[in-house]
Amino acid sequence: QKDATDGYGDFDFIVVSNRLPVDRVSTPDGETWRRSPGGLVTALAPVMAKADGAWVGWPGSPDEEVEPFDHDDMHLKPVPLSTDEVELYYEGFSNATLWPLYHDVIATPEFHRTWWDAYRTVNRRFADAAASVAAEGATVWVQDYQLQLVPQLLRKARPDLKIGFFNHIPFPPLEIFAQLPWRRNIIEGLLGADLIGFQRPSDASNFLRCVRRFAGYTIRQQQVNVTTEDGLSYVSRAEAFPISIDAAKIAELAQREDIIERSKQIRRELGNPDTVMLGVDRLDYTKGISHRLKAYGELLEDGEITVDNASMIQVASPSRERVEQYRLLREEVEGTVGRISGTYDTISNTALRYLHHSYPVEEMVALYLAADVMLVTALRDGMNLVAKEYVAARTGNTGALVLSEFTGAADQLRQAVLVNPHDIDGLKASILTAMNMPAREASRRMRLMRRQVLQNDVERWSRNFLDALEQDQDRDQ
Ligand code: G6P
Repeated sequence: QKDATDGYGDFDFIVVSNRLPVDRVSTPDGETWRRSPGGLVTALAPVMAKADGAWVGWPGSPDEEVEPFDHDDMHLKPVPLSTDEVELYYEGFSNATLWPLYHDVIATPEFHRTWWDAYRTVNRRFADAAASVAAEGATVWVQDYQLQLVPQLLRKARPDLKIGFFNHIPFPPLEIFAQLPWRRNIIEGLLGADLIGFQRPSDASNFLRCVRRFAGYTIRQQQVNVTTEDGLSYVSRAEAFPISIDAAKIAELAQREDIIERSKQIRRELGNPDTVMLGVDRLDYTKGISHRLKAYGELLEDGEITVDNASMIQVASPSRERVEQYRLLREEVEGTVGRISGTYDTISNTALRYLHHSYPVEEMVALYLAADVMLVTALRDGMNLVAKEYVAARTGNTGALVLSEFTGAADQLRQAVLVNPHDIDGLKASILTAMNMPAREASRRMRLMRRQVLQNDVERWSRNFLDALEQDQDRDQ
């Protein structure tokens, strides 16, 4: 423990993200916290435990002050949000301005000055919270699009810190980013970091073009020499670090007897079709769920597949349900689902089983094991971890992945059946290719993809990022 009166906090490694990596659960002894299932926390928990780590984030419910607490060798520093801030900063600016803007304007982004004001206020609160727990010279790693102003705010308050930022979603082309009335503030906010990580090289180069255009800097070898009004000068660098999953854990679950048994039960209960297809997504307009259903519906209509030999499961986990675009999407998807099921289901066979739920990882792995064909048809996706999870779960090297070119994962999973989901005929043909792929060919492809995912897991991702951040510092000195 360092001296608490020196104006610095106690922690050497701090992660800042919109949500804390824990969920509240009720037990017979009262309420407690449980670690959330995400890959990010799995990767970072060991780093936290070793390095005196703290995590700064919103606990997930509005108007609630939670005292800082320790959990699993991590110090958690809650940042409160009011009901209004959840509406303006989270549902508004983060998920109805930035989210659609950064995903190729699939939905129309809304620009409201009140949302922007709340985004600024909340980003400042996160930056203050991070500064209050950071020891002198600590490393702070800020996560994702909800917090793009935090690097600059932190740099101003605490020039002693090493600051990293990782954007989990795409960074849009300049011509689209240009729409944002506050484009320059966002670019300058991000440039507060020593290292800015993106999923794909194209995201990093989109960002660097915007830096040149909207902040007027010259770029050399992905680096920017930043100078600030208060006389700071440092190097900020943008680079790709494709995120991954805890592949070993998924593979281990895929070999558990009870989970294998459950996967067989799922197939039986679907009426034992020859081919089970699976889609797993947050119910989000970026995921191309409607395109997938359209292709599937047409294959049934054409008689290329029938309800006796094929069945599709679509898991759509509830997401951002108070945002208008998500409500509309749900109406649309559920209308399509109703038409397909109503037309093709029989008493004993289901053409489409739609599940608007989220499931624990064990059930997800059972679903991956039950599926001969996995359909990932996102119209734009930073990475898409579902594709990687499916691959990691297929320990027998069977099964085929249909994967949209518009995902970050398509850069790494080159042996998938790659598809442009806007091309419905192409998508139909790809589904049939995957369904009818000769076993040897499927196994060759799956083996190569599994090697890629198992070698490049999320632990390696975080190590690569943090090593690169350290090196930046060495070079600056
Ligand atoms: C994407 C974003 C994350 C976000 C997640 C779930 O993966 O990159 O930052 O946490 O979606 O969205 P939610 O709005 O429920 O946090």
